Amino acid sequence: MNKQLHTEYELEVVAREESADGVVALDLQRPDGAPLPDWTAGAHIDLVLDEDVVRQYSLVELGNNETCWRIGVLNVHDGRGGSRRIHESLTIGTIVRARGPRNHFALEPAQKYIFIAGGIGITPITGMIVEAERRGVPWTLAYGGRSRSSMAFADCLEGQFGDRVDIVPEDERGFIDFKTLLEKPDQNTLIYCCGPEPLLNAVERASEEWPAGAMHFERFVPFETGDAKPNEAFEVEFAVSGVVLEVPADKSILQVADEAGIDVLSSCAEGTCGTCETYIVSGEVEHRDSVLSAEEKAANKSMMICVSRAACPRLVLEL
Ligand code: FES
Repeated sequence: MNKQLHTEYELEVVAREESADGVVALDLQRPDGAPLPDWTAGAHIDLVLDEDVVRQYSLVELGNNETCWRIGVLNVHDGRGGSRRIHESLTIGTIVRARGPRNHFALEPAQKYIFIAGGIGITPITGMIVEAERRGVPWTLAYGGRSRSSMAFADCLEGQFGDRVDIVPEDERGFIDFKTLLEKPDQNTLIYCCGPEPLLNAVERASEEWPAGAMHFERFVPFETGDAKPNEAFEVEFAVSGVVLEVPADKSILQVADEAGIDVLSSCAEGTCGTCETYIVSGEVEHRDSVLSAEEKAANKSMMICVSRAACPRLVLEL
């Protein structure tokens, strides 16, 4: 595992700006101004509000620099309280703990990109646009939101990149026309999409004719397992720790590892953040996370042990 993912930083809020209705942009840097670890487009960090409240935020790339991480935080009124706490308590000068960066939404090489964002899903896309520019690869962005005033960074993106950016406020123009946007499948184009579940589902429906591997999604919510079989008990061998334990039907591998005192980092416990990713030594897995792509799941190299389970009697993990 990459040690950087486990390293925790104390960061100071050095700038705070209301970048849209309900969205605050925060600039975080080390109190001594030292550089922060490099990150790549699509990466996110964990904000550790306390031991039980850890939230993931994509890094925003618009005018920041190597000593500063910028995040955009939507105040989710019906959420679990993390974003509200950030809005209420993280002011300039506040010190906050952070881990990462981690990237499960990396920008692969392509001859063209189509970026699609809904609401606060614009945050990881900002870095992708800057990276596509750096690579000299043509791109377009379709960015939807309830209203223009709720769409963070919309003016900045439009001002900087002109008509390659299509801002689609629902109250002015309705929904993004995905059927037209994605009507011609192209094997040289990759599509990166981040936003609320209905938008991702609409993109999935409109892109059924596209080649496997063209679509890349970042989800905020747990993967819909649909007709998943009822849980069954299985054995897990923790190869590094040298123990074999049973994972009962009512517990996750993560819970069993925690109870056995095996050191494993976790955060969301619902398969959305990627923190508990663990390498598979052998065995088949029923993947239930929303982090890995369909190709990564098929490759069976790693799994999210907070939600995914064995599809065989014994799994061997690099833990
Ligand atoms: S703890 Fe977030 S994916 Fe497992």
